Parts: sequence; C-alpha cells; structure tokens
Amino acid sequence: MDASTSYTLYAERRARVAAQLGDGGIAIIPTAPERQRNRDSDFLYRHDSYFYYLSGFTEPNAWLVITAEGHTTLFCQPKDLEREIWDGIRLGPQAAPETLGVDEAFSVAELETRLPRLLENRHTVWYPFATHTGLESRVDGWLQKVRARVRFGALCPETQRDLCSVLDEMRLVKDAHELAIMRRAAQISARAHIRAMQRSAAMLRAGQDVREYHLDAELLHEFRQHGSQYPAYGSIVAAGANACVLHYRADTAPIRDGELVLIDAGCELDGYASDITRTFPANGRFSGPQRALYDLVLASQHAAVAATRAGARFVDPHDATVKVLAQGLLDLGLLDKNKVGGVDDVIAKRSYFPFYMHRTGHWLGMDVHDCGSYVEPSEVGQVSERQDPLSGETIKDRPSRVLRPGMVLTIEPGLYVRPTEGVPEAFWNIGIRIEDDAVVTDGECELITRDVPVEADAIEALMRG
Ligand code: GLY
Ligand code: MN
Ligand code: MN
Repeated sequence: MDASTSYTLYAERRARVAAQLGDGGIAIIPTAPERQRNRDSDFLYRHDSYFYYLSGFTEPNAWLVITAEGHTTLFCQPKDLEREIWDGIRLGPQAAPETLGVDEAFSVAELETRLPRLLENRHTVWYPFATHTGLESRVDGWLQKVRARVRFGALCPETQRDLCSVLDEMRLVKDAHELAIMRRAAQISARAHIRAMQRSAAMLRAGQDVREYHLDAELLHEFRQHGSQYPAYGSIVAAGANACVLHYRADTAPIRDGELVLIDAGCELDGYASDITRTFPANGRFSGPQRALYDLVLASQHAAVAATRAGARFVDPHDATVKVLAQGLLDLGLLDKNKVGGVDDVIAKRSYFPFYMHRTGHWLGMDVHDCGSYVEPSEVGQVSERQDPLSGETIKDRPSRVLRPGMVLTIEPGLYVRPTEGVPEAFWNIGIRIEDDAVVTDGECELITRDVPVEADAIEALMRG
C-alpha cells in the first residue's frame, strides 16, 4: 500500500462501486495470480489493476467482496512465520481492517467456505468478465454451493454482470491523486530518455561499441533510481532499421554513427504507467533526410496535441495526425501524387498506411493500454457502416469517445519506411515515433512528458552536452 495515502481514497472508490451494484448486488474482485517464469523462479509479481484501484493492496492471493450496501470483505494471506521468513511480511487478516479500511478480513483459506455464504440471498453477482482465467468457473462453483442450499430456503443469484463496465468508466477519468503519480512517473521516464540519449552520443564520441542494451541499462537505472518499481512495459530500444519493427525489444544490435535510435520506454510508479517515445540521432546530429521525416512527424504531433481538448473526440488527434502526414508524404516524394492523387485521396484510400499503420494514441493509466471504452457511451447505438479501402472489409463505426477533463491518453504519431521501390532510397530504413502523455483539461491538454525535449534542435543541443 502506498504509505502516504490514506485508505479513505480506496474506501470512497469502493463506495462508488457499491452504489452502482443495484439492489441485492455483490461484487467479487480477485488480484492477479503469481506466475512461474521457470523452475523455482517466478515473474516479478504485479497486482491486478482493478483490485489495486479498490484496495491499494499489493499482496498476491487476495480477493475483495463488495456488497451494494457498501460492506467490504477482504480475503488475504494469513500470517505465517515460516512463509514470511522466505517470502516477506504479510499484512494478515487481523491488521487488514485498520490498515486498509475494509469492514472485515479473513484468511484466503476460508474463501471457498465463505464466498457461497456471501452470495446467498443476493440477486446479482458482478465480477470482471474475461480478465482472470478460470474465474467464471470458480463463480459457477460457488453458485452451485448456494443452489445446494435452496431447499433450506436460500435464494440463488439470478444474474451475473460484468464489473469491468463499472470500473472502466471510473478508471478512465483520473482523480488528483492519480494525476499526481502519473506526472511523477512521466518526469522519471523523461529523465531516463535524456540519460539514454546522452549516453549514446557520449559512447560514440569515445569510439565505443554501443549496443541497444547499453541504452536499455540507462533507462532502467533512472527508473529504479527514482523509486519506480519496474518498466510499465517491455522497453523498445531500436537502432536503425529495427525502428521499423513496431514491437521490437531492446536487444544486442549495434548503434551506429549516422543512424537513428527509437526508444519507447516508460516506468511504472506506484501502480501507474508512463509511455514515452523519442527518436534521436545516435551521434547527436540528424542527417538531412532524417531531419525532414522527423520534422514531419513532429508537425503531425503538434496538430494532434492541438486537437486534444475537452469536448473533442478521441479520434480527432488521429485524424489531425493523418492529415499532416499525408500531405508531408506527398511533399517529400514518399507518395507519388501521379499515382495516389492529392491529400484527400491519400486519406480516403489510406495510401499512407504502409508508412503509418497504427493509431495515434490510447488511454493511459494503471495499465499502459488502459481500460475505458473508445466509444461514447451515450451514442453506442449509432452505428454506421463503411468499406475499408485496403481490406475491402465492412467496418462498423460507432461515435468516438468525447474527451473529458481528467482523461489521460498518449499522442504518438510515427513514420516507418521499409525499403520500397518508388520510395527515395535516402528514406529507407528510417523509423520515427514521437510519443507524449497528455491529460485532458478544459483548455489545452497538459503534456506531462515534455521534460524530455521533442524539437530536433533541442535534442541535438542536449546530446552535445
Ligand atoms: N509502448 C506501447 C505503446 O506505445 O503503445
Ligand atoms: Mn503508447
Ligand atoms: Mn510507447
């Protein structure tokens, strides 16, 4: 648990959930399982985001049960001296009510006997659907136990509902506590990017053999140095042509003088992710073609940033990006206007797709690709159909989400140029992405990741230092 935070924050969130469960509702929320990596060795444990959102509790083997009346029961690991000598101190059910503000707590060993009793005489069982393997059948098992008691007068719940729909909407709009942590995570990640950029230039200047893993090590150092628990996702450190592989990971490739390096990395701090991409010249100086493409991606990001404001739609920054990129691809000769037509044709036929094949952003929060519907809930019934110009598939569109203050999203345009006939060779193997994290406000969006510069001149200046 985050020691600086009073548990009332989590109690208030649980109360908001309780208020949405309806008469006779009850919600079950497990945390994440521990996972084995290989023999006798586990992956570093990471709690479940929904569970943490409602409890602030990071131990494994724990469950929350919340009733519509606002009563919370926690099941957690019992105190056990021998296990604690090996694995670390456990909070234990006795201390849990005072520490976490739950109403009562039991050993997780009592889950199987107590859960059916808690479900008895309830109308609706809520739990997160399709997020925890095997949860559906465990709920089914508990309901079977309730049913076995029907002839003694027990009522068995009749309805099961997806708790994600409630929690996703809550998590989509961040409160002040969450935003403060996300700003701090973003600052740490920004420092890590600066450190990696400077190290790249310094090693090349010293004539050293620079590898992607050297820069990965700099990122990790800065994350941990400032208290981040782990990277929010597998860091991408991609030298040269590797930047055109969207899900590349930091590996062993040499970083060569004259090439670009794309780093997509962000730390997780106290349960919240950050997500930054910078692309920079390994030696600290952009070549002409690199700079031309870089400035185009940056101009498209500026357009997306301007489109990220309360009242706009989630899709607006993407549309703004595509418009700038499409025009730039024509201007720089990566697309031939004699073949693809003007900018409107490029957009309508998605001719930019070979160079820009991903969306311009996603929600950001506890999860790097955070939860929350991308469709405006009040307009979910308004479906329109269109034919995708590339695949020919029929796509059903629903109105994109209206942005509201407190939503957090990434803005991450890019261009990826594989060797292609008809594309000037000077651009081949250049991959560029620029990614910042934005908080939606009533005015201009707040970019929380800009402690690491984004303008080409500013990047060159800091790499000279
Ligand atoms: N790093 C994952 C993403 O940018 O979406
Ligand atoms: Mn991202
Ligand atoms: Mn990213």
